[in-house]
Amino acid sequence: MIAASYLLLALSATSWALPSPAAAACRDINIPVTVAAPRFLINTTIDNDWDAAALIFNLTRRDSDTSADPLPIAGSTSTAVEGNYTVGATLCGTGETILVLTHGIIESKLYWDPTFPNAENYSFVDAAVAAGYSVLNYDRIGVGSSSKINALYDAQFQVETAVLNTLVSYARSLPHTTKVALIGHSYGAYLSAASASQTAVDALVLTGFSGTFDYFGPFLAGSSLRVAKTQDPTRWGSLDPAYLISADQYAEAYIYFAEPYFEQSVARWAYEVSSEPFAVGELPSLMATTIDFSNITAPVYILQGQFDLSACGGNCVGLINATADTFNGSEVVEWVDDLPAGHSLNLHRVAPTAFQMVFEFLGRQGV
Ligand SMILES: *[C@@H]1O[C@H](CO)[C@@H](O)[C@H](O)[C@H]1NC(C)=O
Ligand SMILES: *[C@@H]1O[C@H](CO)[C@@H](O)[C@H](O)[C@H]1NC(C)=O
Ligand SMILES: *[C@@H]1O[C@H](CO)[C@@H](O)[C@H](O)[C@H]1NC(C)=O
Ligand SMILES: *[C@@H]1O[C@H](CO)[C@@H](O)[C@H](O)[C@H]1NC(C)=O
Ligand SMILES: *[C@@H]1O[C@H](CO)[C@@H](O)[C@H](O)[C@H]1NC(C)=O
Ligand SMILES: *[C@@H]1O[C@H](CO)[C@@H](O)[C@H](O)[C@H]1NC(C)=O
Ligand SMILES: *[C@@H]1O[C@H](CO)[C@@H](O)[C@H](O)[C@H]1NC(C)=O
Repeated sequence: MIAASYLLLALSATSWALPSPAAAACRDINIPVTVAAPRFLINTTIDNDWDAAALIFNLTRRDSDTSADPLPIAGSTSTAVEGNYTVGATLCGTGETILVLTHGIIESKLYWDPTFPNAENYSFVDAAVAAGYSVLNYDRIGVGSSSKINALYDAQFQVETAVLNTLVSYARSLPHTTKVALIGHSYGAYLSAASASQTAVDALVLTGFSGTFDYFGPFLAGSSLRVAKTQDPTRWGSLDPAYLISADQYAEAYIYFAEPYFEQSVARWAYEVSSEPFAVGELPSLMATTIDFSNITAPVYILQGQFDLSACGGNCVGLINATADTFNGSEVVEWVDDLPAGHSLNLHRVAPTAFQMVFEFLGRQGV
């Protein structure tokens, strides 16, 4: 296991990605997937903002991990339930190694490829294509260009893991690809780790991730969640009421950004353009799932903004060393806990350096 400091690594990460004509090498695709997974029976009712407030109170109260009703789950189906979904994705590049990107909650695939003016240094997709990779960047089911799904019954962690497993097979079947690496952010990092524990992949990169739920309290409380369809009927009127979004850009800044390491215009863009509601079924189903981390054999890279709220309670230094220990089936586990950033690493000024650190890690693994 190797720990490295950003301050040391940044000195060697001198090769900045050049702006590339990546957009021209990309195409938007729809990937139909059929997955079968058991469903948790989520027993909460979210009809309005009062219910959202009550749910967050339940999930964050002092004894929420000891009371009889810690999660709004009343069992699960006895058998797998089949679901057909369309995954909206962007496929870029012709490299032999394909990076499958999974975004987090209150996000969309724009997290990896921002569209604000002069965003070129913030695009993980462009940087990856410039570094010779192919990229599959997708909206998780329920989000953006992917199928709209039921927020309690379909939008569940193990269903989304099964979707990602299918996308790994899809990526591997493309004529030009030989290796698949999973790159995840936040909830998408948990999905990437779960998929890597179930399917063979060549590398796993986790960001916005510590492996512990201990700091979800300030994240959930601070995000000021509201029912998305009433918050912005134009954008989200067609979603069911159990899709939630932050009340305003300052609530989102508190949970995802760290001063003074970002541009406020970027945080505003994140709130107004790239943020998408998350489904209430997602967090309880994640927390009720045991990920078999020790079945992951691929090399693992954990790359953290130091001031990450939901992963580390606002300071990752001294915490990620324990995270690394959970990947005991991997021969290579490297981690960085001190990038000058909050949870949304890609949207902080350090983004281009962070991207090169990912590519240098992959390069060291021959991926
Ligand atoms: C919160 O928990 C209480 C007590 O367990 C329960 O009665 C209530 O329905 C829960 N609220 C929501 C929105 O889940
Ligand atoms: C949800 O189900 C659990 C387990 O059956 C039960 O203890 C709890 O009271 C239920 N909560 C609600 C809000 O119905
Ligand atoms: C999913 O699609 C397949 C193939 O079209 C179909 O046979 C199956 O009934 C569908 N399943 C559901 C749950 O809609
Ligand atoms: C992107 O980064 C390069 C290298 O530091 C810099 O020269 C350029 O001005 C940056 N572009 C923008 C739009 O900030
Ligand atoms: C462990 O990972 C391998 C692929 O690396 C997979 O074939 C196997 O099904 C996984 N085991 C479990 C219990 O998921
Ligand atoms: C991680 O580092 C902290 C601070 O140096 C230390 O207190 C802790 O024991 C370490 N944990 C592990 C699992 O190595
Ligand atoms: C890895 O950790 C798991 C869970 O703590 C444990 O069951 C397993 O024996 C460990 N495997 C190795 C190879 O140390």
